[in-house]
Amino acid sequence: MQDEKLLQLARQAAAKAYAPYSRFPVGAALLGADGEVFTGCNVENASYGLTVCAERVAVAKAVSCGVREFHKLAVWAPVAVWPCGACLQVLAEFVDDLQIIRWGSSGEVEVKHLQELLSLPFKSSKRK
Ligand code: THU
Repeated sequence: MQDEKLLQLARQAAAKAYAPYSRFPVGAALLGADGEVFTGCNVENASYGLTVCAERVAVAKAVSCGVREFHKLAVWAPVAVWPCGACLQVLAEFVDDLQIIRWGSSGEVEVKHLQELLSLPFKSSKRK
């Protein structure tokens, strides 16, 4: 799938964000190894701390559908952002590396790698 298409899906997902506290809608679109796309938006909570980021919603959707291999993640927010550390750690549970894309301020596609944004994720020795 083309980067632009994946970014559009992330933008559409952000329209579903439940963000009454921050008023900062975020959308994510995660491309699974088989070509399927899993989208997510941030879901906030009155307790603030229970808020779930868009990226983690997308990962949970994919994993709960049996997909644990990802090829690319697109992120969209009103101001261009990269995923937060918590989301990077959750992504690193399933993939060693991943292309992460966003639209830059001039509309160009910007690319970073998971390993670049989180070079030393925590890995459990218990994982089989
Ligand atoms: N947020 C995300 O959805 N993804 C991130 O990577 C960082 C932040 C959300 C959480 C909260 O609802 C809002 O953005 C403001 O922090």
